[in-house]
Amino acid sequence: VRPVPRLDLPLALDRAAATPLHAQLAEALRRAVLDGHLPAGARLPSTRQAATEVGLARATVLAAYEQLAGEGYLEPRHGAGTFVSDHPSPVGAAPAPPRRAPHDDGAAPAGSGARPVDLRPGRPDTRRLVDPAWRAAWRGAASRVSSWEPPPLGLPALREQVAAHLRAARGVPASAEDVVITAGADEGLALVAHALALRDAVVEDPGYPSARRTLRRLGVALHPLPVDEHGLVVDALPEPGAAGAGVGAVLVTPSHQYPLGGVLPLARRLELLAWARARGAVVVEDDYDSEFRYGAAPLPALAGLDGDRVVHLGTLSKVLTPWLRTGYLLVPPALREAFAAVRRDLGAPVSGVQQQALATHLASGSLRRHVARTRRDCAHRRAHLLRALAAQPHLRAAETSAGLHSVVVLPGGADAADVVRRVGERGYLLADLADYAVQRRDLPPAVVLGYADASLADLSGAVAALAAACADRRPRVSTATTPTATARPSSTSAVQPRSRSRPGG
Ligand SMILES: Cc1ncc(COP(=O)(O)O)c(C=O)c1O
Repeated sequence: VRPVPRLDLPLALDRAAATPLHAQLAEALRRAVLDGHLPAGARLPSTRQAATEVGLARATVLAAYEQLAGEGYLEPRHGAGTFVSDHPSPVGAAPAPPRRAPHDDGAAPAGSGARPVDLRPGRPDTRRLVDPAWRAAWRGAASRVSSWEPPPLGLPALREQVAAHLRAARGVPASAEDVVITAGADEGLALVAHALALRDAVVEDPGYPSARRTLRRLGVALHPLPVDEHGLVVDALPEPGAAGAGVGAVLVTPSHQYPLGGVLPLARRLELLAWARARGAVVVEDDYDSEFRYGAAPLPALAGLDGDRVVHLGTLSKVLTPWLRTGYLLVPPALREAFAAVRRDLGAPVSGVQQQALATHLASGSLRRHVARTRRDCAHRRAHLLRALAAQPHLRAAETSAGLHSVVVLPGGADAADVVRRVGERGYLLADLADYAVQRRDLPPAVVLGYADASLADLSGAVAALAAACADRRPRVSTATTPTATARPSSTSAVQPRSRSRPGG
């Protein structure tokens, strides 16, 4: 029998204070971790035992544990208990040596013996994904094997669950027949291109490089359109007769422009839909991370504004994990048969076992709970990152109220590719904003940093490394957005390989 661990903390909780008790307990635990009173790897008592020990409600202890797990100080391990994470370090402290890459891609930066911490965007928080409901869903699915192939448009049970999720989370009046199960957003986009026999598409600049690669590979000509702090500049859509005026589709990220973060205002949404309607074009709404908002509720999805004109492109990569390679499309009724025909020819890309497991998982309410938990955890990490950045006079976080990454603007004149390389040498992989651009030469020097799968120590370390890399190279000019035509060598960042030189800031 394992001994019951004790917190054994000098606790001075003030029940009359404005700070809630769970926050006071979290602070005491945080201090105990930082000063070594609770060493790395130590097992904490269960919430029930701790509640008895410190004389608080179990829910109060649970809230404190959850907060610290979100901040990376504690690590819940299923069936084993809650443990102190390795080497947490406070904001502003000397960066701890990076302890692991969240996902090792083998790309060790030059000059670094340790494995780098990969903070390039695109990785969700999967720490709490595997719980009893997840295991039960997969066990059940694995034991129900059919001798048929999964249906071309997806398992009815999963299509129904996705429709219910979209109705609840995005206010889209979706039904199961509108949903097509895909192998992720890129595969969904390829299906759109096939079904519409797409030849031309408007894409955002800067935008999602992977979507551009998918479309290019399928022979689709791209018309990049600028985005500003509110998202796609709809006024720049081509006039009749201009190049690109006959495009079949406009690919947008209206909820949270990727990567800059703008939320497309309602007026622009309506203008975009009117433009598409007038030209018989389809709007492809990439709604990749709308579940992660830290303030105002998201605007209604475009698909909710015009269900005949919009193909809604969804993914489980952010709310669950890209490891699944699963997503979905919401297809207007008039286009449904074209999509079904492509699927019949090319086959259904997602295994029946997986679709069954996900249908059960969604039906159990686990996805909703998981999103609520990870949203809370990510909000802590985001707040920590913003505090760390605010302490650095030469770094500025671009406005973000949503998502799983942040754009960090460097001092004017900084060479972002060089900064990314130097930060890489210090053990942290970041992405250069310029790698998301198609034609834009006027973007400020900036890096893109994913925080969803990072520990607080990693975030502190990356910000310190970023500040040091910028300080190594003092800015030559002070304005952040001055466009120049100076060529610089291509980036070492792996977001999108580049073959051409780009402007410096
Ligand atoms: C803009 C955007 N769309 C979609 C996705 C998800 O793609 P997938 O479902 O192919 O993993 C991502 C992932 O990073 C993204 O950044």
